[in-house]
Parts: sequence; structure tokens; C-alpha cells
Amino acid sequence: MKTSALFTPLNIGPLTLKHRVVMAPLTRSRSEQPGDIPGDLMREYYTQRASDGGLIISEATTISPSARGWFGAPGIYTDRQVEGWKKIVDSVHGKGGLMFSQLWHTGRASHVEVTEGPAPVSASVNPSYWQEGERLTSTPHGWVKPSPHRALEISEIRGIVEDYRKAAERAKAAGFDGVELHGANGYLPDQFLQDGSNQRTDAYGGSIANRARFLLEVVQANVSVWGGDRVGVRIAPSGSFNGMSDSNPNALFAYVTEQLNQFGLAYLHVVEPRVKGNIVIAEGQGPVAAEQLRKIFNSKIIAAGGFEPETAEAVVEKGDADAVAFGRLFLSNPDLPERIKLGLALNEYDRNTFYTFDAKGYIDYPFYGDGVSNVKLEQVTTSA
Ligand SMILES: Cc1cc2nc3c(=O)[nH]c(=O)nc-3n(C[C@H](O)[C@H](O)[C@H](O)COP(=O)(O)O)c2cc1C
Repeated sequence: MKTSALFTPLNIGPLTLKHRVVMAPLTRSRSEQPGDIPGDLMREYYTQRASDGGLIISEATTISPSARGWFGAPGIYTDRQVEGWKKIVDSVHGKGGLMFSQLWHTGRASHVEVTEGPAPVSASVNPSYWQEGERLTSTPHGWVKPSPHRALEISEIRGIVEDYRKAAERAKAAGFDGVELHGANGYLPDQFLQDGSNQRTDAYGGSIANRARFLLEVVQANVSVWGGDRVGVRIAPSGSFNGMSDSNPNALFAYVTEQLNQFGLAYLHVVEPRVKGNIVIAEGQGPVAAEQLRKIFNSKIIAAGGFEPETAEAVVEKGDADAVAFGRLFLSNPDLPERIKLGLALNEYDRNTFYTFDAKGYIDYPFYGDGVSNVKLEQVTTSA
């Protein structure tokens, strides 16, 4: 296979990537409890996946106690969490790698057992968004339907934007190279963007400009801490994960992308609609979102969702993306960039251990040559 496009260096803001095989943000539920602390297990996992000049985007990381929505996900709002992240980032840097922190507020996709009391919040109340078969919420007592949510008062929004800003500061204190706003996959910023979840009639609802306001305010808060060129934004145009829908996704995400141009961002991270969360729902569909937004966005684009080495090479070669983030394949191949570069066989992933709580299925995927390669582990479960 010809790999020149993926293995050509890339400048992202002030950073230089030596290759374009990015590790996508992957929730793995392995933080230490209580306290959502990134510990030694997580350090081992990320260190395994670090490569010289390679970019890792951290798993979604909660910005405040009320932003929590996934038991086992790490946070970035206490000193102990920052200390934990610092050790991880230091270790990734030790291998020459770069790391961004993905900042997360789950909004309505949560449960009172995880928020420890308060009802989950969203742009509006839409009790029927959650249908049988939609993602369950991970709680200390297993997978359950999300709790009923309430609409944020307009007076509360400033406080949430401030929580993002503080989290961005803590990410800086932890030594990350930048931050990525999780604006995809049906979490709070996405709940404001799409009109299936936003029926507000104030300045944060109604028109596309109003629905984009919250996300843009959060981006501004991140940029105030980091400068634009160390901030990335992840969006999922036409994304339906977590019960999302919009009446005119093309117009909405074109507008959002145009507005993001004002910040001089490091990158826009685009999840293709052929993927719903962690499952491919449109087999054979090409990378349509990257192609469309490339025409609008003025900085780097990272494409994600259903890529394999060959299709990743093709999308970068074509110019619709500057880099490609791999999720499931990076999870199961700690040395993914090396394997792609050399055209080596890949380990398959085991869906059953995506969100379990220990080393199994986490830090035991073999490096090439270290044991069984190309293991077949894929099994389907209904948990997420
Ligand atoms: C186990 C797992 C956890 C994920 N966690 C996150 C997350 O924390 N943040 C996020 O933006 N996307 C998350 N995703 C979505 C991935 O980043 C990616 O978009 C998706 O897996 C599609 O890419 P792939 O086909 O390369 O796996 C997750 C996916 C998987 C499989």
C-alpha cells in the first residue's frame, strides 16, 4: 500500500505531527473510583498508544460534577484529576507524542446516580427522545435508561461556559498540548445545536444562529485560555447517536463551520454520519461530511468514523481531510500508526470490553510481533 499522504508531516497550530494517524477520543470507563481519577491503568493504556509525533485525543473528560454522565469516565475539575492527567501527558510526551484533552458535558444523556442527585440538563425537555435500542447510561449499578432531564434556565448558561473555561485551564495545568470541545454525538453542545433537542424560544434556540450560540460561546471560552490554534472542535453532522435529529443538518453544520473560521482553530474534527456512536450504520457510504465541510473550513480537518487504512489514505490524498482519527482500530492496536505504515495485519477489537473496568481488553492488545496478531474478537452486545 502507498502510505505517503498519511505519513507526511502536518502542522496543527504550532504543533508538528510526524504522521496523520490520530487516536480518536475513546471513553473506556477505566478511571479510578471514587473521584474519576486518571490512574496508572490509564497511563499504561495511553503510553502504549503514544508514538513519536503522533496525536492522541483523550477520552471524553467531564468538566464539572454536574457534567457527569458515564460512570468510570475521568474528570478534569479536581486537583487529583489534574495530577493524574499530568502523569499521563508526561508519559505520552516522553514517547514524543502529543495529546489534546476532550472536554465533555453529557447534558441529558445522563442519570441521577452519576450526577449524584441533580436531574440531567439540556437545551429543552424532550422526554420521547430516548427510544428502545438507544444508548443506555453507564451507572455504578449497570446500564440504565437516562433519567428525566430539565431545560437549562438562560441564567445558568454562563456558569456552564465558565465550567468549560476552568476545565480548559486545568487541561493546561496538566500539560496537555491543547483541548478539543466535544460538540458531537448528542451531548450538551450538540443538544443545543440540533432542533430535535432544542425547542428554546430565547437567544439560544430557534434560528440556526441562536442554536449555535452555546457552542460558539464555549469555543470562545476555550480560546481565551489556549489561543485559537490549540483548540479543536468535534462535531457530528447529521449525527443521530443519543437520539439526535435536525430538520436541516446541512445548513446547520455549514453555518457552525463558517462561524468557527473566526477563531483560527487548530482543527475541526468531523465524525462521518455513516457511524452512530461506535457502530457503522451506513456501510459503503463515503466520507461525505469531510468533503462538504472542507469547502467551508479554513484550517485543518480531522476526519473520523469508519475509516480503514486504505480509505484514510484516500481521504487525505484527495484533500478532504488533513488527518484521520481511528477509534476502534486504535483501541485494539496500540501500535496502529506503525502497523499502517508497514502494512501489517491489525488486531480486531472486542466490543465486550469497550466499557469494562479493568486491564482486560484495555492494555492487553498485543503489539505487532508480541503475540497473536489479527485475533478475531468481534462480538455484538447491546450495551452501548
Ligand atoms: C469504545 C468507544 C468509546 C468512544 N468514546 C468517545 C468519546 O469519548 N468521545 C467521542 O467524541 N467519541 C467517542 N467514540 C467515537 C469514536 O471517537 C469514533 O468517532 C467512532 O468509534 C468511529 O470511528 P471508528 O470507526 O474509527 O471506530 C467512542 C467510540 C468507541 C468505540
